[in-house]
Amino acid sequence: MVAIRALPKIWLDGQLVPWPEAKVHVLTHALHYGYAVFEGIRCHATPRGPAIFRLDEHLERFLNSAKIYRMRIPFRPEELRQACVDLVRANGLGTAYLRPIAFSGYGEMGLDPTKAPVQVAVAMWAWGAYLGEEGQRRGVRALVSSWTRVDSRMLPPQAKCAANYANSALAKMEAVAAGYDEAILLNSAGMVSEGPGENIFRVKHDVVSTPPASSGILRGVTRDTVIQFLADEGLVFRRNDFTREELFTSDEVFYTGTAAGITPIREVDGRPIGTGEYPITRRLQARYAAATEGRLAGRESWLTFA
Ligand SMILES: Cc1ncc(COP(=O)(O)O)c(C=O)c1O
Repeated sequence: MVAIRALPKIWLDGQLVPWPEAKVHVLTHALHYGYAVFEGIRCHATPRGPAIFRLDEHLERFLNSAKIYRMRIPFRPEELRQACVDLVRANGLGTAYLRPIAFSGYGEMGLDPTKAPVQVAVAMWAWGAYLGEEGQRRGVRALVSSWTRVDSRMLPPQAKCAANYANSALAKMEAVAAGYDEAILLNSAGMVSEGPGENIFRVKHDVVSTPPASSGILRGVTRDTVIQFLADEGLVFRRNDFTREELFTSDEVFYTGTAAGITPIREVDGRPIGTGEYPITRRLQARYAAATEGRLAGRESWLTFA
């Protein structure tokens, strides 16, 4: 585990403050009850300078997460957008991970979060591929978790709420303790849903599929990017449910996510996937790198330069 290396600034409640000063009280409401919504966004070095990838889509999901949770964010979308741009400029880092978070702050305890003030922060740090560079190259080993993905009758999976990540953490720890790299969660109907922090795709006979929103997933921005790439590449795509055993018999399986990028899965529950070559995953990885680094014609609107 690599410790986060401090950068000069964090944006907190409307101001850029020195990194060591971006602190909260131990009675911060969200720390006790998980009432926080957040985003994970990446900024990449491009020939025209640092570019934040699909910032508007991430901020839209951020505001939707807050709406689902009746959280009133005391900043306008343009202010949040500017906060991300200002932060990247202030920290002088071309390639980074950005973490906007809105949370019930200090001032009131008890289960009703609407009485606590809402605080908003955006931090950033240097973060390599979440499942490792080698994982992106060679593929990772995944374990189907004994934990079930939260579903919208329990906690809304389409809100990127901190509380959901207790479920993710249980699955992740189980996989790591069993000697795997990452987990795959089934939903309460027993169908494949997603990873703890990634969406999942399978390829069978050149048809690419991913579980629909109704399977209890977070609607990933990278998932949407890949779906658009599949159309660009003329590949057949379906949103459909699939089972654990359909993963075992896939030609290719891969995760998508802002943190993980596009990562092949080379083994599920000890079964090797396909031939160990990932031709479609490789094509998508190359296209994703080109898009994020400003080398993909026609996709410049996905980039916000800082
Ligand atoms: C549970 C979950 N699923 C999927 C994703 C992938 O979403 P995105 O591609 O927007 O990063 C994430 C990451 O934010 C996640 O936490």
